[in-house]
Amino acid sequence: MGRLFVFLVILLNVGVMMRCNGGKTSVYVRQVDKTIDMPLDSDVFCLPPGYNAPQQVHITQGVIDGTAVIVSWVTPDEPGSSLVVYWPENTTKKKVAEGKLRTYTFFKYTSGFIYYCTIRKLEHSTKYYYEVGIGNTTREFWFITPPPVGPDVPYTFGLIGDLGQSYDSNRTLTHYENNPLKGGAVLFVGDLSYADNYPNHDNVRWDTWGRFVERNLAYQPWIWTAGNHEIDFAPEIGETKPFKPYTNRYHVPYKASGSTEPFWYSIKRASAYIIVLSSYSAYGKYTPQYKWLEDELPKVNRTETPWLIILMHSPWYNSYNYHYMEGETMRVMYEPWFVQYKVDVVFAGHVHAYERSERISNVAYNIINGQCNPIVDQSAPVYITIGDGGNLEGLATNMTEPQPSYSAYREASFGHAMFDIKNRTHAYYVWHRNQDGYAVEADKMWFFNRHWHPVDDSTTADS
Ligand SMILES: *[C@@H]1O[C@H](CO)[C@@H](O)[C@H](O)[C@H]1NC(C)=O
Ligand SMILES: *[C@@H]1O[C@H](CO)[C@@H](O)[C@H](O)[C@H]1NC(C)=O
Ligand SMILES: *[C@@H]1O[C@H](CO)[C@@H](O)[C@H](O)[C@H]1NC(C)=O
Ligand SMILES: *[C@@H]1O[C@H](CO)[C@@H](O)[C@H](O)[C@H]1NC(C)=O
Ligand SMILES: *[C@@H]1O[C@H](CO)[C@@H](O)[C@H](O)[C@H]1NC(C)=O
Ligand SMILES: *[C@@H]1O[C@H](CO)[C@@H](O)[C@H](O)[C@H]1NC(C)=O
Ligand SMILES: [Fe+2]
Repeated sequence: MGRLFVFLVILLNVGVMMRCNGGKTSVYVRQVDKTIDMPLDSDVFCLPPGYNAPQQVHITQGVIDGTAVIVSWVTPDEPGSSLVVYWPENTTKKKVAEGKLRTYTFFKYTSGFIYYCTIRKLEHSTKYYYEVGIGNTTREFWFITPPPVGPDVPYTFGLIGDLGQSYDSNRTLTHYENNPLKGGAVLFVGDLSYADNYPNHDNVRWDTWGRFVERNLAYQPWIWTAGNHEIDFAPEIGETKPFKPYTNRYHVPYKASGSTEPFWYSIKRASAYIIVLSSYSAYGKYTPQYKWLEDELPKVNRTETPWLIILMHSPWYNSYNYHYMEGETMRVMYEPWFVQYKVDVVFAGHVHAYERSERISNVAYNIINGQCNPIVDQSAPVYITIGDGGNLEGLATNMTEPQPSYSAYREASFGHAMFDIKNRTHAYYVWHRNQDGYAVEADKMWFFNRHWHPVDDSTTADS
């Protein structure tokens, strides 16, 4: 009986965290199996039946306010119809939009026929059905448009990064799909297929990735950020145009926000203003991205969209020994703006683990004053690294010790997160590790909006 009690106490304590110099380093130790890609004959990669059947169907937001959707798909056999037929639930009157078709080559690979079509003037908060593959094999899907943009509109975003196509990737996606919070859209922080880890960047792995994620992406928009695995720069095989497969396959509404490149842009969705930045495009002073962001931040109207969320691939605050300081040069350029405009949260990927910071800034340094330590700053965002989607490169397990004081929580496990906006002042944020049941919350935090409720929301102060 006594032994059983001790055993139970140990069991109950497994989830309890260790205090370090900084925040918490989870004591959860994941069993480290090798992360391997699902083989080509896996169920998740199977071809839809039928002649020239559309595959890799995916949608993303098509215009700033969410009343348009970009639908994209691929057909393998011949150039087919680029039409999308769509209709709102419970009506019979169908509408048709015409898209475009393109192909690209990469070394010895030639893509299938890639279609992309923007369907516009959609009603808010409405379920639409749509069909693609008109004339050959037609497949039907659906999506739900977001509510009108407004300050107290609740909305739940999923957060996934560095997904890849391993067995762990499939677990992450399954956990997101089964999360009881039911995300309406995914904010994806870069590194999609990891095709570039294959010989000659085997673009067949871009196709398999598209088929794998279709089960979610055909039904809800994923908001894209470009990572280093999207660059596909391979001069050794004559491929010198960066981002070629990515930009041919994943179209984003960058022009709608005045951007000149698909790598940085913004959208509004419900009560959130989402700015996507590119860690792999020029961001120094006078560059197009710099000028765009300089003009963009003052446009954010917190009365209309209280929540200011920024996505990028390479994290600025990262206490793992992987990709250490890779985000530093961009931090130097843009961090003063993030503090000035009171960004609520910055999500990044790249490091294959999970970490959440306190609200901190490091903007005092000016070369000669020596003030180079991050400090607690209630105007600063929380920085979250969520590059733990589960790709074939495996987990980042090696952390810098001691844990820096700004690091609130870190853990080397695969997983996903949810950002659940309740109203203009409160958002519930939660991270889930794949080893747990779908509803188990491994790290969580109530975000208080920096514009409407800028009180201290740090989590390590008293726990
Ligand atoms: C496939 O669709 C295209 C475009 O609608 C059409 O021209 C072609 O004849 C169709 N092929 C077959 C075999 O049905
Ligand atoms: C559509 O019809 C279904 C059942 O027929 C009903 O539950 C749903 O509320 C209807 N939706 C709209 C938008 O009218
Ligand atoms: C991927 O996950 C889905 C849903 O859980 C499952 O049906 C499928 O068998 C999995 N496939 C592989 C190759 O793990
Ligand atoms: C900000 O948005 C609110 C609500 O939509 C609007 O009333 C106000 O005019 C906007 N402010 C500016 C400066 O555009
Ligand atoms: C962790 O990283 C540090 C710094 O790069 C290195 O010195 C150390 O050997 C690594 N430890 C392990 C277990 O890989
Ligand atoms: C905003 O949401 C939080 C959390 O659900 C709640 O406690 C608070 O009362 C809400 N504020 C308003 C004004 O409804
Ligand atoms: Fe990366």
